[in-house]
Amino acid sequence: MSASPLAGLLASVREGWSLPREAYLAEATFAADMTLLSRRWTFAGHVSEVGRLGSWILARFGDEEAIIVRGEDGALRALANVCRHRGSRVCVASRGVSRLFTCPYHAWSYRLDGSLQAAREMPEDFDPAGFGLKPLPLVEIGGLIFVTFTPDFASLEPPSLDLARPVLEALTARLGWREAKIAHREAYEVAANWKLVMENYHECYHCGPAHPEFAQLHALARPGARGLTGAPDPLTGLADLEDWGIDGLERETVRVMRSQLSADCATGSREGAPLAPPMGPSPALWGHCVFAELGYLSAFLAYADHGVIYRFEPLAPLRTRMEVIWLTSGAAREGEDYDVEALSWLWRVTSEADKTIIERNQAGVKSRAYEPGPFSGMEPGTQQYVARYLADLARVTRTP
Ligand code: FES
Ligand SMILES: [Fe+2]
Repeated sequence: MSASPLAGLLASVREGWSLPREAYLAEATFAADMTLLSRRWTFAGHVSEVGRLGSWILARFGDEEAIIVRGEDGALRALANVCRHRGSRVCVASRGVSRLFTCPYHAWSYRLDGSLQAAREMPEDFDPAGFGLKPLPLVEIGGLIFVTFTPDFASLEPPSLDLARPVLEALTARLGWREAKIAHREAYEVAANWKLVMENYHECYHCGPAHPEFAQLHALARPGARGLTGAPDPLTGLADLEDWGIDGLERETVRVMRSQLSADCATGSREGAPLAPPMGPSPALWGHCVFAELGYLSAFLAYADHGVIYRFEPLAPLRTRMEVIWLTSGAAREGEDYDVEALSWLWRVTSEADKTIIERNQAGVKSRAYEPGPFSGMEPGTQQYVARYLADLARVTRTP
């Protein structure tokens, strides 16, 4: 990768201002971004999706695909979905339950731990031990499965979770997320660069004008409502935390922020009334929500009775997939304990509005009239996100 166009871009960035046009448009920037992002931890699924032995799901990221599978030994693994014969995809559905993975091209078959079980008509000296599906780094934290899509599996350590893991473990235990189930999912394709999508996600300056439904329910939409004290919260027992790890590439970023709902609102619903049975062991979250995040592309929102997961996936310089997943208590029954339309209403209307405003943002940024503009006092999260990105981009462009 040539460093020069990106070096020019990095040199032209003005602190406290949005990024230059090429950051959102250029193929070279996108290629560097994908290298950067593939080394970070990304949400790949919830344990309820891979509960049975042999159950598996696919997680995609650019050209990479991971098979997330529950092995015969009960362990979760991530395996690169690339056959070791001549490179075909091995799994072609998006999920399933299998005893073996059989490549559809020439029928090499792999065990659930990725080892090669059988390959037809190979020479005498062929040793199957050297031809297992490549493992990818995987961790499970409180029911949330994260992987990295590191292209150089052997030589690159994924970023440390030493700080993030205990924080997310405590949070998910309070929330009851390990015992949760997926109640609904939606996917949106946004015609915009992934950074515009993420910059939008990290500020609530736009909430008042763009999200009347969210703004009515959440204190966060008001100026000055985003106070991070760092002290343990009396209701959740969790300290607010923002660690962007700007000082080093080795540590994964993590954010946890509790926020109040408007008076008389118990949860994120049309009238603020409960939507489902409480998820966690403690009812402390009624009237509040928690925003949490790990790494660049995975965000979590928790109410007392449901959770929302955002998974962002850059597809091309001007295309980003945004998947939204709604969680409820694993014991809750659809139609009796909750209604899917009511459960998903708030973050459906909010995501649809976000798609619209982000695409308008991208259209303006494509214009040659665009130039970076100054951030407001309600965009510190976006500023931190951009600062972290620039620090990582500078490192990636220095790495051959
Ligand atoms: S490419 Fe998979 S068996 Fe040939
Ligand atoms: Fe928004």
